[in-house]
Amino acid sequence: MEIVMVGVCMLAMGFFLCFGLLKWNGIRYSRKGLPPGTMGWPVFGETTEFLRQGPDFMKHKRARYGSVFKSHILGSPTIVSMDPELNRYILLNEGKGLVPGYPQSALDILGKSNIAAVHRSDHRRIRGSFLSLVNPSMLKDQLLPKIDKNMRMHLRDLQGKTIDIQTITSDMALLIAFKQIMEIESDSIYEAFQAEFDKLMAGTLSLPINIPGTTYHRGFLARKSVLRILRDVMEERRNSLMKNYDMLEYLLKEEDPRYKLNDEEILDQVVMILYSGFETVSTTSMMAIKYLHDHPSALQEIRDEHFAIRGRKKPEEPLDWNDYKAMVFTRAVIFETSRLATVVNGVLRKTTEGMELNGYFIPRGWRIYVYTREINYDPFLYPEPQKFYPWRWLEKSLESHNYCFLFGGGSRLCPGKELGIVTIAIFLHYFVTRYRWEEVGEEKLIKFPRVEAPNGLHVRVSKY
Ligand code: HEM
Repeated sequence: MEIVMVGVCMLAMGFFLCFGLLKWNGIRYSRKGLPPGTMGWPVFGETTEFLRQGPDFMKHKRARYGSVFKSHILGSPTIVSMDPELNRYILLNEGKGLVPGYPQSALDILGKSNIAAVHRSDHRRIRGSFLSLVNPSMLKDQLLPKIDKNMRMHLRDLQGKTIDIQTITSDMALLIAFKQIMEIESDSIYEAFQAEFDKLMAGTLSLPINIPGTTYHRGFLARKSVLRILRDVMEERRNSLMKNYDMLEYLLKEEDPRYKLNDEEILDQVVMILYSGFETVSTTSMMAIKYLHDHPSALQEIRDEHFAIRGRKKPEEPLDWNDYKAMVFTRAVIFETSRLATVVNGVLRKTTEGMELNGYFIPRGWRIYVYTREINYDPFLYPEPQKFYPWRWLEKSLESHNYCFLFGGGSRLCPGKELGIVTIAIFLHYFVTRYRWEEVGEEKLIKFPRVEAPNGLHVRVSKY
């Protein structure tokens, strides 16, 4: 009997302790005028539920509290906005104290001069430097020919093989970006770089606990190795008389004072170019292959478009800017893939001062998760939103729609947008004109928090 009593008492104490802790986090962050919502456990907040339930977590919260609610996720009190109008306002008004709010782990590993960590005049300068590397004339004359050359090599001799598309597209995205940054050194240092870069990427999405064995610690060490490799290349370049035509050369030789960066800024810029273009380009390419496989009429139309382009050229002639401009349906496939797979769920901001938004008070230093995912499935904007229907992007000028945030918006609109689209379009060009493919088995795809095939996406490839 006594044992039962002790058990009941412990259960009751446990219950009150949990209840107290849940209440405590709510009380700790309570302020007058905040949006509705719950804050979960101390330290962890509602992170576990958010990561486990993903988009359903957001939908349940919206059903209960409306489109703007508070929570505590990824280590910080956070306002989630699923309101398209408010999201647009936040993206367009960085100057009113709504600056990027990426997690500490990402900022530590990507460096203090990385574009997402800087504001105002520093942001204008670093962004200006970035845009000068990827502006339309660079894209047309320097980057596109290089992408074409490397894509041909990357996608050769796949016939008769069973390949993992996820591996092919992630290697492709990193290699293509790497060749654009430092063309001649890439062959000798790429492998060592890739291994370190993978660890760096993982570290940016981890809890910032800097003790041996943690993902953050490994990421931090990987950053040091990556910088060592890059510093050596910069040193050699400075001592060499050879002229190169790649991004690193432009960064080192920049004379326009508006865009001139010091060495630390150049290093962070290079890491950021690789980091921000890598996953978006690779997952969009992988998902485009998946959707085209599942939708034969779209596959036929994209093949027709690319064979028409090839028909105007000699067999081994590289693609040029005019060919890219003729890839109208391909562009629609890329946008539809990005929408339906939701490669980017949203972006993070934080407040530099307390402010009022939509009638709520948002304290200084709180994160705002500008959650744009649901807009991608809005039936008014995209009828039959769950359907892969690239033609919708040809019918209406959806790309410039006020609520199309696939590439962000405002002063942080993706500067690599066109470069990313060119890369994916050229990838699709060589893949669909050279090969047929069929999926092997039913591979699992996860769409949240990032798009991935945990066991790979295997396809059997034959010559077209
Ligand atoms: C399909 C491909 C891509 C997608 C869907 C995409 C998406 C985005 C989004 C949503 C943002 C806004 C982030 C924010 O507001 O905080 C962004 C920013 C950015 N993207 Fe991309 N991106 C793509 C390709 C690329 C590529 C290829 C590069 C580099 C060559 C790149 C470089 C950047 C940079 C540097 C920023 C930060 C801009 C700033 O803070 O001013 N992106 N991208």
